[in-house]
Amino acid sequence: MTPWLASLLQIDPPDEGTRVAFGDAYFVVRDGILRSERTSSSRQRQTEHTFGFKWTRHDSFEGDAWQMNLRQWLAEKYGNIEQYLPDDNFLLCDAGCGASVSALQLFEPVLGRLRYLGVDVSDAVDVAHERCKSRGVDADFLQCDLNALPLPPGSVDVIFSEGVLHHTDSTERALKALVPLLRPRGLILFYVYRKKGPIREFSDDYIRAKLAGSTPQEAWDAIMPLTRLGKALGELDAEVNVPEDIDILGIPAGRINVQRLFYWHVCKAFYRVDFTLEEMNHINFDWFAPANAHRQSPDDVRRWCVEAGLIIERELVEDAGITVVARKAIAPCAA
Ligand SMILES: C[S@@+](CC[C@H](N)C(=O)[O-])C[C@H]1O[C@@H](n2cnc3c(N)ncnc32)[C@H](O)[C@@H]1O
Repeated sequence: MTPWLASLLQIDPPDEGTRVAFGDAYFVVRDGILRSERTSSSRQRQTEHTFGFKWTRHDSFEGDAWQMNLRQWLAEKYGNIEQYLPDDNFLLCDAGCGASVSALQLFEPVLGRLRYLGVDVSDAVDVAHERCKSRGVDADFLQCDLNALPLPPGSVDVIFSEGVLHHTDSTERALKALVPLLRPRGLILFYVYRKKGPIREFSDDYIRAKLAGSTPQEAWDAIMPLTRLGKALGELDAEVNVPEDIDILGIPAGRINVQRLFYWHVCKAFYRVDFTLEEMNHINFDWFAPANAHRQSPDDVRRWCVEAGLIIERELVEDAGITVVARKAIAPCAA
């Protein structure tokens, strides 16, 4: 364990195999990482297993096109992050780090001047550990539910939580569990899924429920035919004119690519011409396999931010989700 994490946790650096208590919560050190022994809900455990599986499939997210696409999307959503960040040696908590894929892309220009604490409930922390080590990042990790982090209140400068809060048991509760860890004027950057139209919402829930009892490998395989359909629709490269707004289904009038019409309004079946089938399946698996995948409205997110004592500095509402950069108020904000 890095001296800075031990100091943050107010413990002596523990040896391999040592159990450490934080109140009534026990952690144990395995392979150099402090891991919570706490059990979570069955939905959270299922979600954890799907991500533990997904982040070991390196062939599905390490490719250049995949990484470049992510980098561009993050840059568009968050803008120039340097304008928000504190000075040198700040503590960045990547809450739900997965394999640290997004953080390594978004924070790449400032990796040399931060301490990176990756937190994930799943075994993805081991993948993240390796990826950060090979890039020389000053990183440490906790395998733990982000709702029960053993960090002192007000101890974190920046929290990043990209595509995570909606995979916990409650998006709202997770956001409100993280904010107290921020120091006053500390920054949080997060992205959560947005509610879609009625057919998409139905097919999302239907497929997710169908996969609930599957192993991650079974779910991966079950989604593959849908991925192939998305590819076939994408390769059609055809457009259709929706002649007028279909309000009852939330489908707007106008010309739209047939694959995008299917994707946004019927069923998620990702397509990009420069992605491999495995990479497209990764994106569909990420969406359908976790039991926890809550969708929210922009108004929900704004209300939770106010209630949590956050001031929103940047917000981007896309069809897929809602990206927020917010700062913790010095005093609680008025609701
Ligand atoms: C879609 S992945 C995003 C990973 C990473 N933020 C990125 O963008 O590269 C969601 C991650 O959240 C983690 N996660 C889900 N629920 C969590 C929880 N309650 N506490 C901590 N991590 C959680 C999953 O294990 C998974 O690795």
